[in-house]
Amino acid sequence: MSITWVEFEKLISSGNLKWKISKDDLPTPALILDLDIFDANLAKMACHLMAAGKAFRPHAKTHKTVEIAQACMDVGAIGTCTAKISEAEVFSRAGLKGLLVTTPLVGAWRIERAVLLAKSQPDTIFCADNASNVELLNQAASAAGIKLNIAIDLLVGGRTGSTPGEKSVKLAQQIHTASNLHFFGIQAFAGPCAHTLGFLERKKASEQSMGQAVETRWQIEKAGIPCPWLSGGSTGTYNIDSAIDGITEIQPGSFMFMDIDYSIIGGQADPQQFTDFGFALSVIATVFSKPSAKWAIVDAGFKAFSTDRPFPPQLRCGKVPFRWAGDEHGNLDLTQATQSIELGDRLEFLVPHCDPTVNLYDRIYGIRGSMVESVWNIAARGMIQ
Ligand SMILES: Cc1ncc(COP(=O)(O)O)c(C=O)c1O
Repeated sequence: MSITWVEFEKLISSGNLKWKISKDDLPTPALILDLDIFDANLAKMACHLMAAGKAFRPHAKTHKTVEIAQACMDVGAIGTCTAKISEAEVFSRAGLKGLLVTTPLVGAWRIERAVLLAKSQPDTIFCADNASNVELLNQAASAAGIKLNIAIDLLVGGRTGSTPGEKSVKLAQQIHTASNLHFFGIQAFAGPCAHTLGFLERKKASEQSMGQAVETRWQIEKAGIPCPWLSGGSTGTYNIDSAIDGITEIQPGSFMFMDIDYSIIGGQADPQQFTDFGFALSVIATVFSKPSAKWAIVDAGFKAFSTDRPFPPQLRCGKVPFRWAGDEHGNLDLTQATQSIELGDRLEFLVPHCDPTVNLYDRIYGIRGSMVESVWNIAARGMIQ
């Protein structure tokens, strides 16, 4: 069955499209989500964390989509992490609770927006990593007559954060005694550990980094400040951090989609591959020129896939090397192809890095079998402020 472009647009705008559009009807490049694999990824993570006694607050920087945040809540997530205040505003407007903005709020406009957000979603948690910023947050909360939940962003990943130990105990004290702040606990994301190659190496790295966060938590408690919450972890360390006492919740993102970058970090069972979660996300592209028997061109280039990794997209089935050929073009090397490639062929590619790829698209099509079950707006796409 095939539908016309006009019918396609009508079905999309009516919202009544379940089982009426096939994968083959989608204009390309199209970002698609295999819903069976996605559901299995969510269920696996949720069950693992529940069995380990850790709360589950997945990171929405990966998907930027309200319906996906809701799907996470439906399997037991207690909330949604966002990287930025503008992302959090999108999820807040959709009525989602339990928001955690994982990066510090520096700049008057960020603080102003945090206060507005906290007025509509008072359970939102924000992060700070220095004393002057804490002072400004307290002034803004006091002027608005509210209390802000503030966690310390702890430096465990070589990026942002307050140094673990004494300095963070002092910062906790400042937040705890501020009139309009509620000291919530510790946010600790050990970014480099997530992609450390080899399970044992990753375990060692994460235990070392997150061990500092746990130690800081106990030091804060010892200073008489309640510190009941420590959030961190990633797709690569979910089964490492979930076994560490003192961490209370895990905030993974990529596991729900998966990408080539994660597939090569090595797993606990297989040192070569990380197969804990399936490839749910892919991009369909069309072969729209075959100028020679040696190569063909697909309609997906830099604007269809993230280009921040040293490897290109890969076909989901079969092997035909892909080379970047410009903003809108990808080159398939037919001299090394394991299958014939013809003009008009529609090919499915696994993406190098899921988060920045998703941020390139307006819509994500949820596919069950070969049919489109849902179309979701990537509502927080471009929300990088
Ligand atoms: C603060 C924070 N938490 C959690 C995550 C989720 O990590 P992953 O997508 O590797 O699971 C990220 C990703 O960059 C992050 O920046």
